[in-house]
Amino acid sequence: MQTQTRVKLKVRPFTADDYADITRLHNANFPGFRTRTSRPNLLPTGYFVAVAGDEYVGVSNLWLSPVAGELRTGTTGVQREWRRRGIALALKVRSLEFANMQAYLRAATAHKTNNHRMIAINDRLGFSKQPAYVHYLKTFET
Ligand SMILES: CC(C)(COP(=O)(O)OP(=O)(O)OC[C@H]1O[C@@H](n2cnc3c(N)ncnc32)[C@H](O)[C@@H]1OP(=O)(O)O)[C@@H](O)C(=O)NCCC(=O)NCCS
Repeated sequence: MQTQTRVKLKVRPFTADDYADITRLHNANFPGFRTRTSRPNLLPTGYFVAVAGDEYVGVSNLWLSPVAGELRTGTTGVQREWRRRGIALALKVRSLEFANMQAYLRAATAHKTNNHRMIAINDRLGFSKQPAYVHYLKTFET
């Protein structure tokens, strides 16, 4: 029989104090994280963390878009052992609420076509599919 334990989870905006911890965690899993977070289109107030006690269990972030009135979602990730408890969904709901409260008109998101978990979440949140680009490559004979 599967047992479930209730854990107090907080989804809150990322603070300056979180930066060092999050960078360390991301660097362990995603080399190059610091380079990405120093890009000028990162929106620090739209960076959300899910925290259980003093453990970071998930992240989701928003980026400025070149399209007026639009924000783009960046990586959403949940620690493996915390998955399937609605944490990614909660993070994305929180970030969409933020975008709405800041008077943005749209949020754009993208995922790999085989990421069924993220597709289920985005469908559930009401994202509509946009026409996709197919990339072609022609190699010249030398
Ligand atoms: C994708 C990811 C963020 C989902 O996190 P999560 O906290 O487990 O997701 P949630 O618990 O909020 O899931 C919400 C819904 O998504 C769907 N879903 C999530 N994981 C699923 C799985 N393994 N299989 C099928 N559906 C799944 C379900 O509809 C689920 O609702 P339900 O549990 O009521 O059925 C997590 O698996 C992850 O970190 N993956 C690696 C990073 C990644 O691929 N990020 C996305 C690219 S930006």
